[in-house]
Amino acid sequence: MEQKKRAAGLDPAIEARVDILLQRMTLAEKVGQLVQSSPFRPSDIAAFIEKKRQADAAGEPLLSGPEPRPDLEDCIRSGQIGSLLNVMDLELLNRCQRIAVEESRLGIPLIIGNDVIHGFRTIFPIPLAEACTWDPALLEQAAQAAAEEASAHGVDWIFAPMVDIARDPRWGRIAESAGEDPFLGSALAQARVRGFQSPNLESGRQIMACPKHYVGYGASEAGRDYNPVDISERTLREVHLPPFKAAFDAGAGSVMSSFNEIGGVPATINSFTLRSILRDEWQWGGVVLSDFDAVRELVVHGVAADLKDAARRSILAGLDMDMMSDAFAQHLQQLVEAGAVPVERLDQAVRRVVGLKLSLGLFERPYSDVSLAERITLRDDFRALALSVAQQSMVLLKNEGDTLPLRAGAQRVALIGPLADNQRELLGAWAINGQPEDVETVRSGIARYLQGDMSASYALGCPIKEHDSSDIPAAVAAAQQADLVVLVLGESADMSGEAHSRTQLDLPGCQQQLVDAIAATGKPIVAVLMTGRPLVIPRLAAQVDALLVAWHGGICAGRAVADLLFGTVNPSGKLTASWPRSEGQIPIYYAHKNTGRPAEGAGTSQFFEPFRSTYLDAPNAPLFSFGYGLSYTTFAYSDLAVETPAVAPDGMLIVSATVRNSGTRTGSEVVQLYIRDLVSSVTQPVKLLRGFEKITLEAGQSQTVRFEVPAQQLGCWDIDMHYTVEPGAFKLWVGPDSTSGLEGDFVVR
Ligand code: NOJ
Repeated sequence: MEQKKRAAGLDPAIEARVDILLQRMTLAEKVGQLVQSSPFRPSDIAAFIEKKRQADAAGEPLLSGPEPRPDLEDCIRSGQIGSLLNVMDLELLNRCQRIAVEESRLGIPLIIGNDVIHGFRTIFPIPLAEACTWDPALLEQAAQAAAEEASAHGVDWIFAPMVDIARDPRWGRIAESAGEDPFLGSALAQARVRGFQSPNLESGRQIMACPKHYVGYGASEAGRDYNPVDISERTLREVHLPPFKAAFDAGAGSVMSSFNEIGGVPATINSFTLRSILRDEWQWGGVVLSDFDAVRELVVHGVAADLKDAARRSILAGLDMDMMSDAFAQHLQQLVEAGAVPVERLDQAVRRVVGLKLSLGLFERPYSDVSLAERITLRDDFRALALSVAQQSMVLLKNEGDTLPLRAGAQRVALIGPLADNQRELLGAWAINGQPEDVETVRSGIARYLQGDMSASYALGCPIKEHDSSDIPAAVAAAQQADLVVLVLGESADMSGEAHSRTQLDLPGCQQQLVDAIAATGKPIVAVLMTGRPLVIPRLAAQVDALLVAWHGGICAGRAVADLLFGTVNPSGKLTASWPRSEGQIPIYYAHKNTGRPAEGAGTSQFFEPFRSTYLDAPNAPLFSFGYGLSYTTFAYSDLAVETPAVAPDGMLIVSATVRNSGTRTGSEVVQLYIRDLVSSVTQPVKLLRGFEKITLEAGQSQTVRFEVPAQQLGCWDIDMHYTVEPGAFKLWVGPDSTSGLEGDFVVR
């Protein structure tokens, strides 16, 4: 309740305090509140990142960060900066905060933002992996743990969750997303917002979530980062907006606008998305923060003549705070003085930013306790949580002849591959505070089970990216001495994430050559894939006996892999983004449209085969579909009951099915409900996820899973772009993934 009020900016006590402050503020001080800045010069940050990369590679800790810029303290003292971002040095933060609170004229504290994407220091699996747990409660806990560490380190504002819908694995930022589906994405967005904004953080402080990137960023053309997006309003509303709305409903009081344009209008000046949808339609009162330098980039996009024009266009469109462009800092005061920007618009933005600071309690608790930060970092329970999330995020895609689980002590295992004994890459794409030395490797995880030195049966095989095959013969020799090979393959952390798109999604470097050589030995092969995205691996999938996707799994990834390989933990992850057979199928997602000439079933009568929506050289279906993932046990679905075969538009669809663990081990299953609207005024996807529940069953145990779906959620954006629940026939499926399940029918009338 408290969180909701904050999102809508409704708290009258806070409004009153904002009013008093606003009356006392000069124009310059108002502008200052809308400026988010870094304490460091860009060149110093670049130099630091390079130094950190080298230190990580050498396995050495880097003890000091970059030096703050010389004008920092004066800028804060004179109220020219309202917010700082990505500062890792708590003493520096406290020092800056003290200047803002005790030495600036009005004593308004800074708000400190940070990219806590999958953990602060305790690095969890990348968000795409986390999503494969299909467990909102678990991810809420993970987000809370991240918030605990971040808050103790002085962070007030977390630039997450990233809620972009991603249907193109070429796009490197798919790693940061929850995958391809808006329903699942919305549920996980809400869980993460709740976790970040937990009211019970040990620091006694509050954090504000900042869902991003608003909006449509995941649909960038050709999967290339920052590229234009050109989608219809309907697609925007059906696919890309829902997770944002869900995040706001859960209490998120800020949002980050995206870099991309939609149909010629960059997000930073898009008054349709920033004003009409956010404010008029959704009545949302939070803060809109630009992405990094995005106001300046309006000039590069070619929609602003200069930085001043960029400042004017973005604030008029509805942007509240400028991250790093310096456009507001340099030009906003002048623009208001000249009447080019109404002072009311400025005041509205300031009101939101100062209101956010007040609602977070920053005026009462501006400083952080350095000793808490030390105590709380990497706490045992955070590590245990990171392990649990990693275990549940991994997806078993193949297990022929029950190759897995391995039998400890009964098989000689050769552990081979560039990621088998690697720490750094397991941290993944967004781990600015992560430390390689915190990471448990697969090699050390497996050693726990084999109770001995694994070095005799370990071989690197080849590097991750470089085309150097000189180590392959040694790997083949190791394989020949073993009963079974565990190959740990995949991408380095820097092959996904921001500005790291790829066009060829097969194994990088000469890893496929390594696989071919090992496969030629005839030994059984278990492949473990560490990746930031779905890869294109039809050849690998055919060559190996078992395939486990371990993603970039964070500090406990290696141990989690071992637990799954040896079966102390039963795999339960399910994919949340389709794995294509070839790059040519991209974008690929289960919720596609039927077309007038679908690959199967009724098509045109005018022509005969092959005038269908197919490829000449590949099936339409992905290699592994959304929702798919195996277990060491099996589940049988039966007794589908559509309890409400006719539902009123304001009624509730109720459907149940029984799931039985038909195997021999305890296991968890994600039971999924999909629905198709058979006839509507505009075309609808062939299936849409409308419910899911993760259950755990002992061998032989059954459970009836019941879904209740408000018919209100079954509507579409009709031909006139009104959200409508249209009467008519629907189909539904309850099953283990998006391609199968028990089938039923109902009508809305
Ligand atoms: C750019 C990224 O797009 C965004 O996700 C991030 O929060 C900001 N940089 C700040 O680091």
